[in-house]
Amino acid sequence: MKIARFSRVGFILAAAGSAVGLGNIWKFPYIAGEYGGGAFVLVYLLTVLLIGFSIMIAEMLIGYMGRRDTVSSFEELAPTKKHLWKFGGFQALAGLCIMIFYSVVIGWIFNYIVTSFTYLPATMQEAENVFGSMLHSDFTTQFTYHTIAFLWITYVLNRGLKGGIEKMNFFLMPALMIILGGMFLYATTLGAFSEALHFMFYPNFSKINGEAFVTAVGHAFFTLSLGMGAIMTYSASLEKDANLVKNAFWVVFLDTAIAIVAGLMLFTFLYQYGSGPAKGPGLVFISLPAAFYEMGIIGNIFAILFFIALAFAGLTSSVSLVEPMVQYFIDRFSWSRLKASVLMGLFFWFFGIFAILSNIDGAKEYLTWGSKNFFDWVDYITAAIMLPLGGLIMAVFVGFIIPKNRVESIMRPQLRWAFDAWYFSLRYITPVAMFVVMLSLMGVL
Ligand code: PFF
Repeated sequence: MKIARFSRVGFILAAAGSAVGLGNIWKFPYIAGEYGGGAFVLVYLLTVLLIGFSIMIAEMLIGYMGRRDTVSSFEELAPTKKHLWKFGGFQALAGLCIMIFYSVVIGWIFNYIVTSFTYLPATMQEAENVFGSMLHSDFTTQFTYHTIAFLWITYVLNRGLKGGIEKMNFFLMPALMIILGGMFLYATTLGAFSEALHFMFYPNFSKINGEAFVTAVGHAFFTLSLGMGAIMTYSASLEKDANLVKNAFWVVFLDTAIAIVAGLMLFTFLYQYGSGPAKGPGLVFISLPAAFYEMGIIGNIFAILFFIALAFAGLTSSVSLVEPMVQYFIDRFSWSRLKASVLMGLFFWFFGIFAILSNIDGAKEYLTWGSKNFFDWVDYITAAIMLPLGGLIMAVFVGFIIPKNRVESIMRPQLRWAFDAWYFSLRYITPVAMFVVMLSLMGVL
């Protein structure tokens, strides 16, 4: 089957669009806040550099060499035991599972765009009530916006790699960067900017423990879109003479830069107008709107723009979470793109309804097992098990299974002197790190 090819810039924008998502703007600032700022940021940056970058190249390489959907690429590249290695490709399923809650969060963001036109909460308490009542008692709003997200994502996927995914990223990624860049510049003029800088970059190691370390590694994977076949699937459509190292560099660089810019900007606003570096997932949905309120009318404009940027980031990531399974069904079962996009879309839409219900009073009792509800379980299973497992499989696959001469013939000219270090890290450092992360996120360690 002939696969459409990305243009050079199109690939970088699409891969960066996948990486830059809710993880950067929603999750990174609040976990950085939870673990005390600077020291966590440092550990995170080191992880991105030492593990994330090398796995990113490995994942690109599997897609680039395999040239097909994730399952077929593993099957194709394994010299022996193809029937077993093809299961490595089922990491693509993780993306579809993530979409179950990711789409619900995009729905919340849509809702916040609309309400910010006319309303911002005057106090933190009010902001908390507004968010809480949406989450716990407003099924209809969440359902409606979740459905809009589903329709949008399915529409783009159905339009295909060039006409849908590449085109969407071509418009939304620059728009996102302009909005965040503009708001960041404004933040630099505020007095609290230096406090935000201090918070993000002055390492306070007392907050760093094993858990912080593991969270940093887990987040590095999530934010770089690794271990779920997204980067692999996009890389199957790279042009023949693509430079994987350069591409990986750009994706990692843009992803990290945008997380840092978003973090600095949010913390500046929170120090200047709000309650300081708020902790927890409510940061952008609770503390931030209350801070925007203090800014007056410009706060409304900023709130609208900010949530639009967040929605753009989420949507460009969403298509990459679903595309691997779409590609799988097109490639292996000759489904039409329409059928594959709609059925995959319906899958996350349907289970997303349960993710919403699992927070709604009166229903959540039936959708909670142990300490977590359905929403949290999906988040936990994907982040704690599927994602590190995907990373582990890829590192072992490129490090030990694909014959070294094949890997070397492509990667040595691109990496030059760094080739041996990269190969060593894939073989020995990354698998061990992934294993430790998995055990510890599962609570075994
Ligand atoms: N990287 C995205 C984020 O930071 O929100 C999430 C994501 C997208 C994870 C695609 C995995 C993936 F395959």
